[in-house]
Order: sequence, then C-alpha cells, then structure tokens
Amino acid sequence: MSRADGPSGTAVRPAAAAVDWDALADLARGAMRHAYAPYSRFPVGAAALLEDGRTVVGCNVENASYGLTLCAECTLVGQIQLGGGGRIRAFACVDQHGDALMPCGRCRQLLYEFRAPGMELMTTRGVRSMDEVLPDAFGPETLEDTGAKAPREEAP
Ligand code: THU
Repeated sequence: MSRADGPSGTAVRPAAAAVDWDALADLARGAMRHAYAPYSRFPVGAAALLEDGRTVVGCNVENASYGLTLCAECTLVGQIQLGGGGRIRAFACVDQHGDALMPCGRCRQLLYEFRAPGMELMTTRGVRSMDEVLPDAFGPETLEDTGAKAPREEAP
C-alpha cells in the first residue's frame, strides 16, 4: 500500500488548496482591460481556475452585428479547449469596476459544460456552487440518460 492509499487501499487525493478568490478576481480584472466593447461600453473579464491548477481568462468581444457578441465566458471556454481541455473548479467574472458580475443565462450553460464536480463561482451574493447558479441544468449527462448523442472522451 503506497502513501497515496487510504486505510482500505482506496486512493486518497491530497486536499486541494483553498481557492484564492482575490487572485482569481484580479486575473478577471486584467482580462477585462482587453475587452472589445465599443458598442455596449460594458467591458467584462472572466477567469477560471481549472482542476489541474491552470488558470484561463476571457473577455467580451463585440461585433458591429450586435447579436454576434461573444461574452467573456465564450472566449474563456475557447481558451480552455485550445489549451488541451480541462474542467473548471472556480470561476470569477467582473464588470468594468472590477466588481463581481453574474454570468448571463447562455454563459451559465457554457460554464456548466466544462464544470468540475463541485465547481464554485464568485457571485454578487458570495461564492455559490454551479448547481445553485444553474439548477436543474440540461447537460451532457442528460444526453447520456436519454441515449442521445453524448460527448465522447476520445477525440473525434
Ligand atoms: N457580457 C459578458 O461578457 N458576459 C456575461 O455574462 C454578461 C454580458 C457582455 C456581453 C456584452 O458585450 C456586454 O457584456 C453587455 O451585455
């Protein structure tokens, strides 16, 4: 039995260090300064701590065709995927004043797809779980349960 094994031989994960929410919010504030928001003048920055300890950021990128605007969360999940994938352990989103901002409805869904079990978000009402922010979510497991096409672990 190795040191990583529990009393009955079950693997024990070392306790993950607590999330540094101030540092995560600061990353989001830095990302917010890169926002392209000439139409709304509402720059947004987002930052995520992944399960493996990496951090990724995103900012909103607007478009002359207003409806094509990318929220900060859109560019963030793109960065996760481009970086080889990963699961979000903690997420923070800020407005132009650097204050916590609630992710919009669509973006809660985007974040849900990439959540790690127990994912938490910095919200205007303090730290909340993904399940509190998007209860009764539709997600990949819904597709699995119904036998519809669900995501595969291996590359296509
Ligand atoms: N926005 C985000 O980037 N994330 C959200 O969760 C809410 C809204 C952006 C989109 C748009 O560029 C601006 O904020 C105003 O709606």
